[in-house]
Amino acid sequence: MSFIKFSGNNQIISFVRNHSDMFPEHSALEVEEISDGNLNYVYRVSDSSGKSLIVKQAPPYIRVIGDGWPLTQDRIRIEQQSLQFTALHCPKIVPEVYHYDSQHCVILMQDIGDHDNLRQLLIDRTELPQIAKQLGNYLAQMMFRSSSMGMESTAHKALVKQSQNPQLCKISEEVYFWDPFCDHERNDVNPLLKPEAEVIWSNQNLKREVAQLKRRFMSDTEALIHGDLHTGSVFATSESCKVIDPEFSFCGPIGFDTGVLFANLLLNYAGQQNLPGDSRERKAYQNWLLLTLGDIWQQFSAQFDSLMTTETLDPSLSDPGYQQWYLQQIWQDSLGYAGVEMTRRTIGIAHVADIMNIEDPELRADSERLSLQIATMLILQRNTLNTPKQLDDAINQLRT
Ligand SMILES: Nc1ncnc2c1ncn2[C@@H]1O[C@H](COP(=O)(O)OP(=O)(O)OP(=O)(O)O)[C@@H](O)[C@H]1O
Ligand SMILES: [Mg+2]
Repeated sequence: MSFIKFSGNNQIISFVRNHSDMFPEHSALEVEEISDGNLNYVYRVSDSSGKSLIVKQAPPYIRVIGDGWPLTQDRIRIEQQSLQFTALHCPKIVPEVYHYDSQHCVILMQDIGDHDNLRQLLIDRTELPQIAKQLGNYLAQMMFRSSSMGMESTAHKALVKQSQNPQLCKISEEVYFWDPFCDHERNDVNPLLKPEAEVIWSNQNLKREVAQLKRRFMSDTEALIHGDLHTGSVFATSESCKVIDPEFSFCGPIGFDTGVLFANLLLNYAGQQNLPGDSRERKAYQNWLLLTLGDIWQQFSAQFDSLMTTETLDPSLSDPGYQQWYLQQIWQDSLGYAGVEMTRRTIGIAHVADIMNIEDPELRADSERLSLQIATMLILQRNTLNTPKQLDDAINQLRT
């Protein structure tokens, strides 16, 4: 059956009425388009009593470009599958899926509009005391439960198969692991940063390490990862945290999710060097960011360790020495992937507001330089920076 795009608000309302019993029969409904990403249509449907839900529809192309750039609609199946899997093991962290319609390529889901975007919260230097615990817990549950330690081998392979996401993975393979490491036409480089970008493009040692990380990204089916866990995909209040938009999800290396998340904290760290505001306050916030990164790792690793110890199904993967080695591998992978994400967000196609909000190009270049320095260090030294403390010390040495 062919795809049916909503042609107007009335169609959206009638779809919502047919597939949800949230709204009383004769209530007047309003539709607001809230799409602010690139790929999909997102609408909020609400009534006057304050009830609302979200409608996300994936067209067969990239929304902001149009049908000149086709993109598989299978991404919305992948997204709902990942949301449903997460809901089984960590229900509070994702919006509840109310309905999935494969013909319309639509998800109806819980409105989490009472939460704020984590990227903006970090730009505003908001300290969130619960966030490390919530994200570390989510990562540990998801990664263990969808791995071949937490699932029977055959069930895990079925998950790998049903989570194959080749078109979206190919985009990541290019925009993370290729473009930023060569002088690619898709790159967007601050002219003041060209010399530093050229150093990266000619660093063969760095490219070799990135090739290793890319090979793992392309072939390691460790666990069902989110695939795009930047701070724009996380929403929070002081008590609650939600993760959305897992359309890039597939079974891949665990360290990719932890790494992308770490990178986005560190991109904010680099931004805080030159964002507006009191310098002591910005410095204190940079310290909070490093502490939070360490706390996420601490929460993740303690919980993942405990799950490995008590719930590993395969006895040959139950040896404590092996499990310690494995956790250390995940830490090192996380640093490597964090370096790749920071590089691509600094000189690749998609930049981040944490740095782009710095209006003065010289000051922005200063933050971008710091980002690239941290990134290169993470990729090249990931096997020797063994703990969050060593990481903090190394980053603090780069801070001017
Ligand atoms: N469940 C939700 N509750 C409230 N707001 C939401 C929800 N899901 C999405 N949004 C809002 O819609 C915006 C776009 O959503 P989302 O990031 O899922 O779209 P996308 O098209 O996949 O984006 P991208 O191109 O970045 O992948 C979010 O930034 C958020 O503001
Ligand atoms: Mg998306």
